Parts: sequence; structure tokens; C-alpha cells
Amino acid sequence: MDRLGPEDYQSNRHIRKLLRLAGAAKDDVFYDLGCGRGQLCVLAVKEFGVKKAVGIELHRGRAEKAAANVEGLGLSGRIEIRNEDFMGSDLRDATIAYCGTYEAEDDVSHFERELPLGSRFVTLFLPFVGVVPTSADYPFYMMERPFRVTKDLSFWISKVLFRKASVGELYQELDTDREYRYDKRTLRRLVKERFGDA
Ligand SMILES: C[S@@+](CC[C@H](N)C(=O)[O-])C[C@H]1O[C@@H](n2cnc3c(N)ncnc32)[C@H](O)[C@@H]1O
Repeated sequence: MDRLGPEDYQSNRHIRKLLRLAGAAKDDVFYDLGCGRGQLCVLAVKEFGVKKAVGIELHRGRAEKAAANVEGLGLSGRIEIRNEDFMGSDLRDATIAYCGTYEAEDDVSHFERELPLGSRFVTLFLPFVGVVPTSADYPFYMMERPFRVTKDLSFWISKVLFRKASVGELYQELDTDREYRYDKRTLRRLVKERFGDA
């Protein structure tokens, strides 16, 4: 699976869970990084009342579908769909960003640089490797800028699994988790790089 990911659609119940976790409300500007059909932006505006939502989508066909959907709902004034790579996006006005694709090498430093202080970043299935989530409602984890980085692997794992466990147990849980579909080789490499020989 490349980083474009599958075009799978999260249910509205999952989307509400992540927007609740992020505390989305009327003063927020919500970014969905890899927005697919744009449904997260729609619920963020319609149900949580955020003042603006921006959906970024690299795949042209998906971005076009999302934009048509937003227009059909009469929400073009508050939802912007951009057909671009989110690693090149201007995120300066974001108060909340969500990214449901797996972590790539430079994500932590990139988003640390690009997201404003105080903004919240929500991920799916795992927080960034080595970053301590400020809260979680599985499968979602929220981290805040500035990111709190830890070198303590067992502390980080306890925040991921919500219990004390070894790194072997973490991998075993992920291996047997039917929902977790990310690139495990990259995860192991990031764990090794950030925590040393774990
Ligand atoms: C799992 S889908 C998200 C689906 C979406 N949440 C929905 O409910 O429709 C992930 C999306 O991220 C997009 N994507 C992956 N990497 C991207 C990137 N670097 N920039 C922009 N979009 C990206 C993929 O094309 C894909 O549509």
C-alpha cells in the first residue's frame, strides 16, 4: 500500500469520534490531510460548526468528487478542497489537522514546523512514533503543538496501548489487529531510529 492509501470511507460515527476528541468548535479551522470524498470536512462544518474546513487530496478524481459533493451541499463558502500534496500545503491557519495515512519519515519535523503553536493534530491507529499523545479515543490519537517527544519507549507504548507492555507485545498487538493495515516495516524502522535498539 503506498501513501495514497485505499479509498476507504470512514463511517460518520468514526468521524464524529475524532472531531469530538479534537474538541472541534466554531472558532476552529479544520484540515483533513488526505480528505478522500471530503466527508470529514462536511461533518466538521455541519455538525461541529467549525468556521472553515480545508480538505487536501492528492488524487485528482477524489478531489473533484469531494469538491462536487461540497458544492452540491451548498457548503463551498466554508469548505475548500485543494488538489495538492499535503506535504506542500500551507497550514498556517489550522487549529486542528487530521491525517489518516501512516507516518512517513519526515512527518514529525514537517508538522512541527508547519502547524501553528497550540494546534491539535489527530492521527489514526498510532500517534507519531516517539510523540506523546495528549489524549486518545481509539483508533484516534491527538497530539498538540509543540509536540511532546519522549525517548522512553515503555512510556510511549503505555500511551499507545493504554497499558504497560514490551515492544514485542506492541508488535504482536498490531500483527493481530485486523484494523491496523499500515506499513509495519516503516514502523519498526522509526521505532529503532527514535528509541535506539529496541
Ligand atoms: C484512507 S483515504 C481517506 C478517506 C477519507 N477520510 C474519506 O473518508 O473519504 C486517504 C486519502 O489520503 C490521500 N493522500 C495520501 N497521501 C496524500 C498526500 N501526500 N497529499 C494529499 N492526499 C494524500 C489519498 O489519496 C486518499 O484519498
